[in-house]
Amino acid sequence: MRPERDFTPPSAFCPHPERWTAIDADSAEREVTELVASLVRALQPDYAIATGAGFGHTAQAIGTALRRNGHGRLAAIEFDEARAAEAEERCQQLPVKVWCQDSLAFVPEEPVEFAWLDSASCDRERELRRLLQWMPAGAIAAVHDAGTQRDVYRMLQSVAVDGIVRAVRLRTPRGVLILEAMADGIRSAR
Ligand SMILES: C[S@@+](CC[C@H](N)C(=O)[O-])C[C@H]1O[C@@H](n2cnc3c(N)ncnc32)[C@H](O)[C@@H]1O
Repeated sequence: MRPERDFTPPSAFCPHPERWTAIDADSAEREVTELVASLVRALQPDYAIATGAGFGHTAQAIGTALRRNGHGRLAAIEFDEARAAEAEERCQQLPVKVWCQDSLAFVPEEPVEFAWLDSASCDRERELRRLLQWMPAGAIAAVHDAGTQRDVYRMLQSVAVDGIVRAVRLRTPRGVLILEAMADGIRSAR
């Protein structure tokens, strides 16, 4: 584990990145992973999605939270084969299925009550707009890499402006947006 300052320089958005930690530049800050797992404990979803599962650290944390919940499962999506294999290994014995495919083509198996979006930044808005089709009103998406210094924040503001979601921004080093779906997505009915 290394100080996040090794990966994210101080900024006006988050002046003390050294207060956070991360395993590497691709895996989420450990404290953010803990937050995501706590949201899963608090919200008790039946079905959750994690895009850009990477090496599976946050997927493992979500899977552990779901196991503690006693119900629910996670679809973790990662298109890099080696990373997907590592994520699968990390999530063995947990209610997690790793899908080695493009998140932009992934079809959820049931309504998505919770989502952790952490794939390529450039695709984040398209990914969110697509997944919202399967999200019922009140479903929550946590979106990584959404600090004001990053394009994701600007892209996702447009979704909020459209009234599709409402958002709270968290000042973590790489930035997190917590989004609430404002209406049932067109494919979210069970
Ligand atoms: C920042 S890393 C993920 C870190 C991980 N979510 C965590 O919290 O530890 C981003 C990952 O997204 C994957 N990725 C990028 N675009 C993708 C897409 N469209 N579909 C699936 N995976 C994607 C990359 O291969 C990379 O492993």
